[in-house]
Amino acid sequence: MLRIVVLISGNGSNLQAIIDDIHDDEIDAGVVAVISDNNDAYGLQRAKQAGIDTVVVNTKNTTSRREYDQQLQQQIDQYQPDLVVLAGFMRILGDDFVNHYHGRLINIHPSLLPKYQGLNTHQRVLDAGDSHHGASVHFVIPELDAGPLILQAEVPVHDNDNAETLAQRVHKQEHIIYPLVIKWFAEGRIKMQGNKTFKDGKELTASAAMLHLI
Ligand code: GAR
Repeated sequence: MLRIVVLISGNGSNLQAIIDDIHDDEIDAGVVAVISDNNDAYGLQRAKQAGIDTVVVNTKNTTSRREYDQQLQQQIDQYQPDLVVLAGFMRILGDDFVNHYHGRLINIHPSLLPKYQGLNTHQRVLDAGDSHHGASVHFVIPELDAGPLILQAEVPVHDNDNAETLAQRVHKQEHIIYPLVIKWFAEGRIKMQGNKTFKDGKELTASAAMLHLI
């Protein structure tokens, strides 16, 4: 079984999609712990309801980002994960942390990377007048939102969209692509080598990472 630790900061709708899909599709994987930097994250309730261990690592008792990362790493490693999944974890992680999980740390980001790294992606897409938007699952490397892509989903931007309606459309796709990537991991189909994604032993091109769902 692929042992997964999920890191969240908020609602945890992606966490929920992952838990549900592992169960429904009988994927050979299990979320063994959910860890949050935020005591009030609703995702912690979702984890408890699913009978999953929860841990809060907050910044109260730490003096530096490095120290926080070390405490977080210690908590994660107690669960001996094969895969660490960032699902709306809103802290920037340092190089040592990221390198420690090389090849087994993935993130979901609400844009068609490399476009719109960082925050407020939905509003920025609207402000730019883009016709399309989406979400990306990628391996995490020390450079922020820049790791090799694994899977992307595209959505149209409608004339009457606001940031909220657009976010909802993107979320729907996130809930499809993140569990799918985890399934591939559980099946041993996805690897990172030399900062590139390999799927079924072949290097993945950017166009092959795109899933056209709509
Ligand atoms: C998701 O849209 C995810 O792409 C985004 O946070 C949201 C979490 O939603 N992540 C980032 O912005 C990371 N830079 P959720 O808590 O409902 O899963």
